[in-house]
Amino acid sequence: VTGADAVTASPTVFGIDLHVDLTSSRVRAGLEGALREAVRSGLLVTGTRLPSSRQLAADLGLARNTVADAYGQLVAEGWLTARQGSGTRVADLPSPARAPATPPPRTTEPGYDLRSGVPTLASFPATAWVTALRRALHAAPADALGYTDVRGRPELRQALASHLARTRGVRACPDGIVVCSGFTQGLSLLARVLHQRGATTVATEEYAQPAHRDVLAAQGLASRPLPVDVEGALVDRLGDEDAVLLTPAHQFPLGPTLSTRRRSAVLTWAADTGGLVIEDDYDGEFRHDRHSVGALQGRGPHHVVHVGTTSKTLAPGVRLGWLVAPPDLVDDLVEAKRTTDLASSSLDQLALARLITDGGYDKHVRRSRHVARRRRDELLDALHRQAPAVQVDGIAAGLHTLVLLPGVPTDARPQAVVETDAVASAARHGLAVEGLQAYRHPDSDTTPRPAALVVGLATPPDHAYSGALTRLAATLNELPALQDGPGSRRAGPASSSVP
Ligand SMILES: Cc1ncc(COP(=O)(O)O)c(C=O)c1O
Repeated sequence: VTGADAVTASPTVFGIDLHVDLTSSRVRAGLEGALREAVRSGLLVTGTRLPSSRQLAADLGLARNTVADAYGQLVAEGWLTARQGSGTRVADLPSPARAPATPPPRTTEPGYDLRSGVPTLASFPATAWVTALRRALHAAPADALGYTDVRGRPELRQALASHLARTRGVRACPDGIVVCSGFTQGLSLLARVLHQRGATTVATEEYAQPAHRDVLAAQGLASRPLPVDVEGALVDRLGDEDAVLLTPAHQFPLGPTLSTRRRSAVLTWAADTGGLVIEDDYDGEFRHDRHSVGALQGRGPHHVVHVGTTSKTLAPGVRLGWLVAPPDLVDDLVEAKRTTDLASSSLDQLALARLITDGGYDKHVRRSRHVARRRRDELLDALHRQAPAVQVDGIAAGLHTLVLLPGVPTDARPQAVVETDAVASAARHGLAVEGLQAYRHPDSDTTPRPAALVVGLATPPDHAYSGALTRLAATLNELPALQDGPGSRRAGPASSSVP
């Protein structure tokens, strides 16, 4: 490290690389400047232990004294600290010398969360997962961690084929499964393939995940709203769409199950028109009132792509899902996956495969279903006692329910405004909730659904659930419709109007 050339050195320190840009011709000044800048910019954070002067000198090809003198100077200036036994470390500097620190949590941040979308993250089966990963790695062939089958690890596809057949009635063989990064990537791959084949339009349920409409749009596909009633999506209204995206087991977010009659109708539509049915089975494992409703794919494997995910059964952060596709789609989906990200993580796939075959996955799902059902009953009970005028809907399945907001919408106070006010009121109670109208398709021309909150049953950790319910009841009791006295519109006792 001599001369005026910019030199980059990355010596190894305790297994950690220290990257120092030496740009000055004066070596000691250059080293001091580089370290000062690294601390100032936050590249080296408070407490980071620097290499010994002997080690850094050897790595940079400098005299040891040069490094020791530079350290001494920076200690004198307060950038570093040197303590016997703990070496030289980056000092705790007051801002603004430090890189921007993580902002402290906002005091207005709600302490309780009943938004939908996640299972109880604190209940992730971490021990079982780690055990499964360890066992799977021991058993895996050496090439499992190389560039592997784009469709996904054979261990996982094998495990999924029998698991999905057993638990969801899906007709799958390992070769017809493509492992992907959650439902979202599955939908994206499908949309891409459909678009490549000339598709332009996909029917989506009029209340649905807005993100899924975005995924379709990102691949050049328009989404057309399909109304939903107590029998699920009105598939009789399907026309010249190229595909339809449905949540048959448990309509998201309204809650009904696609009726037997509508199941037949959508399969007939697919057979007659060549349209594709995309089955989003995001929470099919969570049925509370009876045995789980089988997958639509089981009745029409040549017209339905079944898409599943671990986002509700394990955690969204796992980012694993699967497509079970008709044979004529598989090669194109594999090609789309290959040109997107080559394959999903083998480590995670091996762990999930093992978790399934060892029975840990079923066990966790059963436990989670039990907890979700108990929480649903607690919600009904809490509202019955604390806010008896409020109705609940969509309670037969899943990890969320609809809490209907009483009151008659008017032009001045349409559903979306009623919901926004309730969400703001909940926030004042320290509770995060979300309104139903946020899920409505922007092109929907039906009368909006009654104002409601979409309540995630699984979101809070165990210890926070009853507190969250108390805050929800307090929020609901403050609603104008419940403040107007006995003459106001009462919705009746907490009940389910689910089919
Ligand atoms: C309707 C619906 N489908 C699927 C998913 C899961 O998506 P992913 O598997 O990409 O996490 C969600 C997540 O909230 C959802 O609400």
